[in-house]
Amino acid sequence: MRLDLIGSDLVCPVCVNDAPNAPPLEAVPYTGKIEVASEMTSTFEAGVLHCLRCERNFRVEDGVGFFSGLPHSAGRKDDFGRGRYNTEAYARAYIQTHFRDVIADDKAARTHLDLHDVTGFYSCSANNMYYRSMAEMLFTKLPLGATVLDLGCSVGRLSHELARKARVVVGADSSETHIRVAKTIQRHRRVSFRVGEATVSGKYVGDPEIVVDVSSVVRNNVVFVVADEQCLPFRLFDGIVCSAVIERVPNLEVFLRTLRHRIHDGGLLLLSSPFDQDERFVDRSNWLGYGAYGTELGTAEESLRGLVQRIGFRPIGGIGSVGEGGPSPHNDAYRRDLRWVTYNDRRKHMVWSVHAELFEACDSL
Ligand SMILES: C[S@@+](CC[C@H](N)C(=O)[O-])C[C@H]1O[C@@H](n2cnc3c(N)ncnc32)[C@H](O)[C@@H]1O
Ligand SMILES: [Zn+2]
Repeated sequence: MRLDLIGSDLVCPVCVNDAPNAPPLEAVPYTGKIEVASEMTSTFEAGVLHCLRCERNFRVEDGVGFFSGLPHSAGRKDDFGRGRYNTEAYARAYIQTHFRDVIADDKAARTHLDLHDVTGFYSCSANNMYYRSMAEMLFTKLPLGATVLDLGCSVGRLSHELARKARVVVGADSSETHIRVAKTIQRHRRVSFRVGEATVSGKYVGDPEIVVDVSSVVRNNVVFVVADEQCLPFRLFDGIVCSAVIERVPNLEVFLRTLRHRIHDGGLLLLSSPFDQDERFVDRSNWLGYGAYGTELGTAEESLRGLVQRIGFRPIGGIGSVGEGGPSPHNDAYRRDLRWVTYNDRRKHMVWSVHAELFEACDSL
């Protein structure tokens, strides 16, 4: 963990709620000293972060801080910390979704892809700039050097894109597996995966492991933590981004109210969603567009807008789709859609139309 970037902002996720001026967490390394990397940035690799106020300790392992596991998340319908999102297979699929453009351009990988990329995921012509477009959308309104949270960051591509312009990005995810993979990619600046993912009795066969250098898109000013919105160890951010997360949150009203407390007045919230609402994660009564949280019946976009305004955010949309030639005078809502291409497994990839919208933190209605 780059304490030089975030040390003074790092606070106890329990105390921050009832003591806004709680002191920063104290780093207690297991080695007896904080390791200093060659580029002279202090990285905290292993130890505990200690709260002087409540005496809680939060462990740091392999440069990752662990803040989840507070009682509130147990038994939630989504339970991403334990469920399928926490599996290696999901993390491997996300590696391919997040780094598709870099992998597709890699000459050595290309020979293999020509043979094994059965669904054409790597040659699919759909716009492949989803993550960069999201970051550009945020920074059309946010000053350079801001502090940004990427909540639900998975293996981290959007965090790195945001870090091109932010001073520091916190990439947080409730899945320990995803965050460990994100940290490994950042450390070694390469990704490894198997395209075919052909399995026999659960074991990979046939496909050699492909390793691709991703140093062109990976940044050092991203700090990865295992945390959900209820246990964020930070005071305030200038911007918060949730990409393809809100459709999986069991109670979006509680989720967004919690995030409102973690954002400066005038700060920005960028939400994107393909709105593929699913009863396995969210009860039907909480689906956007179906009257959830007392919002009007209508489209999911309208329902989301109604909900965030009640909580204390003002829609400042109308920016237009950054990657697709700017706003349209005819149908702004449609033009704000972004293409998002996901690798699902060796037999399936999907091209989504994702709605992305910016909101400014203000007083609640
Ligand atoms: C559909 S994936 C999207 C990943 C990434 N943001 C992207 O756009 O590619 C949703 C991610 O959000 C994480 N997640 C879901 N609910 C969360 C919560 N309440 N707090 C933190 N992470 C969450 C999941 O573990 C998963 O990695
Ligand atoms: Zn505390």
